Amino acid sequence: MEWGGFLVHVLFFLITFMSFICYKRNKEEPRKKANLPPGSMGWPYIGETLQFYSQDPSIFFATKQKRYGEIFKTHLLGCPCVMLASPEAARFVLVTQAHLFKPTYPKSKENLIGPRALFFHQGDYHTHLRKLVQGSLSPGAICNIVGDIEAIAASVMDSWFGGHVINTYHEMKKFSFEVGILAIFGHLEAHYKEELKENYRIVDRGYNSFAANIPGTLYNKAHLARKRLSKTLSEIICERKEKRLLEKDLLGCLLNSKNDEGEILSDDQIADNIIGVLFAAQDTTASIMTWIIKYLYDYPKLLEAVKTEQKAIHQSNKESNYQLTWTQTRKMPITHRVMLESLRMASIISFTFREAVADVEYNGYLIPKGWKVMPLFRNNHHNPEFFSNPHIFDPSRFEVAPKPNTFMPFGSGVHACPGNKLAKLEILIMIHHLVSKFRWEVVGSQSGIQYGPFPVPLHGLPARFWKESSI
Ligand code: HEM
Repeated sequence: MEWGGFLVHVLFFLITFMSFICYKRNKEEPRKKANLPPGSMGWPYIGETLQFYSQDPSIFFATKQKRYGEIFKTHLLGCPCVMLASPEAARFVLVTQAHLFKPTYPKSKENLIGPRALFFHQGDYHTHLRKLVQGSLSPGAICNIVGDIEAIAASVMDSWFGGHVINTYHEMKKFSFEVGILAIFGHLEAHYKEELKENYRIVDRGYNSFAANIPGTLYNKAHLARKRLSKTLSEIICERKEKRLLEKDLLGCLLNSKNDEGEILSDDQIADNIIGVLFAAQDTTASIMTWIIKYLYDYPKLLEAVKTEQKAIHQSNKESNYQLTWTQTRKMPITHRVMLESLRMASIISFTFREAVADVEYNGYLIPKGWKVMPLFRNNHHNPEFFSNPHIFDPSRFEVAPKPNTFMPFGSGVHACPGNKLAKLEILIMIHHLVSKFRWEVVGSQSGIQYGPFPVPLHGLPARFWKESSI
């Protein structure tokens, strides 16, 4: 070989070798450099669980953020966790690198809802189910149930008037449960509805209990009620199959679906997803509706503005004998902004949980495989950098759209809430019915928050309601 040719080969070899070394170093260097985020892991075994539960969780998170910045570590309920308090971090975990973080829920919830519900999955099974759930809750599907939701609102609220004290949150739970049943089954026979209501109430009490199936415990009772729910659901499914109806409600979508391999869903898969949607739909919506009733009571000028908007719609429908329509619910700008500001202010889902499926590096910090990862929505919603005077209830701030990724009441990415359109519709209909027909008074001077686990005004906001005399 000529010298020239030999040198070219040596040069080529050296360049390739150096590139390989650089590539490896680039790949490995961050891992070597990356440290765990700042923060405290608390006591051995219990970590900071006691501090977390002995104070308002939002204060726990805010204090940590002040001390350590937007990323910090802690140890809760036996798990090492990394908490992330910035819009970019929430997007990183939930959207751009979502494949590196799997959903994770307490065992009691997974067992009682059913392990085949979409929340607990990633990949093809999740995508398939999500399409079905999202389809049945899309504007095209729910625009036809405005009248039915209004009828539910009327029947729940009509039992309030007379001035006796009611627990607003409990009443809102009745409303959101009925709307959930409507979205899932369409019109369901009364005896099935009663069976579902009775048993779901018991399951609901077990969600936050310790998952030990010891007779007499809340968890054990919930477990038995869940079995009864499965039985009722299989009767409903069987009846639907016999009737061969092509309904557009969630049950219809689940029954008529096939995956890419042409397989249909099993009855257990359908049942777990029905219970899952009931779980996702009830307390969340009830909690935010309770907060809205409180905020409207606390801010009389806003209440007047909302009343004026809603009474104009109510009056025009009354004169022409029409019911509230989907189009009208899209034209309630003041009420809409009150709803958004309530979602921000109350931040009923303060954070979500994921688990790192591999070692992940974020902003120079290591998030080790197996650690829980919690994007903190509330911290973003209450950050003065994104929402000026964040502790003031000011719906006018939503006259301008918030900065990207700063406002995530319904999450983001592949697991974002598929029920958000239904939740908003339900809220608008509730407000329409409430302010155009009722006046109310919150009972007691105590203000505060209780967690169950979503934040709710203290004691469920006891209140008295009267029908407005002019209606
Ligand atoms: C104001 C009321 C509601 C709020 C604030 C809310 C919020 C959320 C949030 C933040 C998530 C994402 C959780 C995560 O990423 O870990 C979520 C997921 C979900 N929500 Fe909602 N939600 C509400 C109402 C509803 C309703 C009415 C339904 C159904 C009728 C529903 C069904 C679901 C389902 C099925 C998921 C799981 C989606 C998945 O894993 O792909 N939600 N919700």
